[in-house]
Amino acid sequence: MSNKIAVFASGTGSNFDAIMNAVESGELDAEVCLLVSDNIKAGVIEKAQKREVDTVVYHPKSFSDKKAYESALLADCRDKGVEWIILAGYMRLIGPTLLEAYHNRIINIHPSLLPAFPGKDAIGQAVAKKVKVTGVTVHFVDDGMDTGPIIAQEAITITESDKKEEVQKKIQAVEHKLYPRVIQSLLTKEEAK
Ligand code: GAR
Repeated sequence: MSNKIAVFASGTGSNFDAIMNAVESGELDAEVCLLVSDNIKAGVIEKAQKREVDTVVYHPKSFSDKKAYESALLADCRDKGVEWIILAGYMRLIGPTLLEAYHNRIINIHPSLLPAFPGKDAIGQAVAKKVKVTGVTVHFVDDGMDTGPIIAQEAITITESDKKEEVQKKIQAVEHKLYPRVIQSLLTKEEAK
């Protein structure tokens, strides 16, 4: 039986699409049973609707606090039988409610070689520092900002002429291959336990 995963995303959703493509091709043995977004304008919502993936969009500020917001998400995830939470451009820290319920089952992708350039606009930070090498990190999520144990990393090189757009293209090309592969390897390891 396929593993049930929820994807949390706040942006355009290219990683969501890459995950869905990997599911469709059989590279990833999972069922994406829920797309969660905190941004009603996020492009990922249309992508999920096109693919007929159930979607919930909440505005966190309409809840009394983070606990109430995450309790609603937790109820949705439990309702769908979600086993893993995959953050794909979800620009919000995960709080204790979800971290305790999904201990070591929430992972994130970040566009830098952590611990370098955590937080927002990691690609812009790397370009501004004129580093020659940056990359992509997949890690378990803890209560810090991009601080959890690292699962996988892949580097890209930045040439003199690369602007932020070129670096972003290189990063995304890596992300779209790396993320489905890492998710599948985690699922396989879990099944072998
Ligand atoms: C991705 O590059 C991802 O690594 C980054 O957001 C982008 C989402 O793109 N995540 C973070 O910066 C998390 N700190 P997408 O919406 O096209 O998948």
